[in-house]
Amino acid sequence: MTEAEVTAIDFLTSRRSQKLVQAPGPSDDQLRRILQTAMCAPDHAALRVWRFAVIQQEHIGTLTDLAIDATRRSGREITVEKEQNMRKWLADVPLLLGLAYKVSHDNGKVPEIEQTLSMGAAVMNIQNAAHMMGFASYWSTGLGTYTDDVPQALGFDSLDYRFVGFLAIGSPKVTLPAAQRPDPMTMTRIWDGKI
Ligand SMILES: Cc1cc2nc3c(=O)[nH]c(=O)nc-3n(C[C@H](O)[C@H](O)[C@H](O)COP(=O)(O)O)c2cc1C
Repeated sequence: MTEAEVTAIDFLTSRRSQKLVQAPGPSDDQLRRILQTAMCAPDHAALRVWRFAVIQQEHIGTLTDLAIDATRRSGREITVEKEQNMRKWLADVPLLLGLAYKVSHDNGKVPEIEQTLSMGAAVMNIQNAAHMMGFASYWSTGLGTYTDDVPQALGFDSLDYRFVGFLAIGSPKVTLPAAQRPDPMTMTRIWDGKI
């Protein structure tokens, strides 16, 4: 392997999600470069389904209030302790990205599962790019993801979009040890060609 390959693979294998992040988050220019990597996700028929809502720190409090209200209104419980933890976590997050994809309905060539996978690949690129720039990120489907009101408030109505959560991005608060990852061969079989 070349030195460049070693560095790139090291980056990919050293990424780990980190919930506790703080300012500084990415600058506008860094965010643009991060989002550019999402545009390189595999994309059957060039549907370009990926959509993002940038929520800067000054608006995270409003979103948090909405998410808590909407979740409770939808009949799901949030204990006082959970609410406190959520508010404590989000108070320091400098940037949230709302994540959605625009559904190409009844697409005979690209079933929705492929659109979902393309969105997942786009988010993976974002997480890796953020990591390579020294930021940490954390994908959460809390924060009212599965309510009607939260996606709607971000401009993702459920007729045209599937909302798939939030990515918190910022500077890591602590340095975490390397994550324990499985041996990929425990999840891989070498097919012997017999049918
Ligand atoms: C679509 C999606 C939604 C997730 N939602 C949550 C969540 O709401 N709460 C949570 O604790 N982890 C959630 N996770 C898991 C974390 O983002 C993270 O992947 C996990 O802690 C493992 O860390 P790793 O990425 O370093 O392996 C979610 C992951 C994915 C892919």
